[in-house]
Amino acid sequence: MSAVVTELRMHEFRLLRDVIADYCGIYTPDEGMATFARKLTRAMQTTQAEDFTEYYHLLKYGDSSELERAVDAIVNNETYFFRELTQIEALLEIVRDAPAGARSIRILSAGCSTGEEAYTIAMLLDEAGLFDTGRRIEIHGVDISSRALEKARHARYTSNSFRSAEGRYLDWYFKPVEGILRLEESLRRRVSFSQVNLMDTKKLLSLGMFDIVLCRNVMIYFDSASRLRALDGLIGVTREAGHMFVGHSESLFNVTNALEMVQVGRAIGYRKPVEAA
Ligand SMILES: C[S@@+](CC[C@H](N)C(=O)[O-])C[C@H]1O[C@@H](n2cnc3c(N)ncnc32)[C@H](O)[C@@H]1O
Repeated sequence: MSAVVTELRMHEFRLLRDVIADYCGIYTPDEGMATFARKLTRAMQTTQAEDFTEYYHLLKYGDSSELERAVDAIVNNETYFFRELTQIEALLEIVRDAPAGARSIRILSAGCSTGEEAYTIAMLLDEAGLFDTGRRIEIHGVDISSRALEKARHARYTSNSFRSAEGRYLDWYFKPVEGILRLEESLRRRVSFSQVNLMDTKKLLSLGMFDIVLCRNVMIYFDSASRLRALDGLIGVTREAGHMFVGHSESLFNVTNALEMVQVGRAIGYRKPVEAA
């Protein structure tokens, strides 16, 4: 382990920023250099690298586990229960109106962070009785960050995650364990998680097809080429007539014509057209 702390120089910043953007899409603008340096210094100190140039070589030419650790250090995992709720309400409408059929309804939370988005969906589907209609519903969360996914699987949360949650959900679905709240097991079992880098289209496609894809507050951190690449993969796993939702501050207007903008309830979303036979 290196205890050396060196200053990040502009050319090193640009090299490191590019190696990280190439790997996961996250692009740090010049104004973000100080925070980037602070976060990466911590990750670098767990390696043998003596300075940022050596660290860059390690990330660029070493095995990918070091790159994964660096990404884990710089990602923004900010999330909370019931965030941008109108879209989750729209999702309930889509599930309610889904044409009858034998196959599962599949929902993807892409960039699920510590799990609050996926578990919010599970809570609201449960409250609406939609798990009891005989139709199987699968909820799957993916993220690049192993640290975030570990938290998602444990499903233990502090007050920060509940900033917009109504009290009844805490009473119904959470149990206090050692001073923090743990989501009860029956709901934890409704959601599965796996580690996927949205730049890895092949891995994304291996998850199969989804009826509803949420990718909210993830692609805003990407450079434009990576945004298109992630979007391509996500469209690839969206079923015909399936829906996609991005964050409130994001828009796919003029970004892709593979989806049509639709209003569902009070939310704006996107729908994959049905290919003409
Ligand atoms: C700000 S959080 C958004 C969480 C949640 N979707 C929400 O809106 O509350 C962004 C998440 O995207 C993940 N992420 C960033 N780049 C990714 C990539 N290339 N592949 C998969 N996940 C990524 C981060 O690890 C982080 O957990």
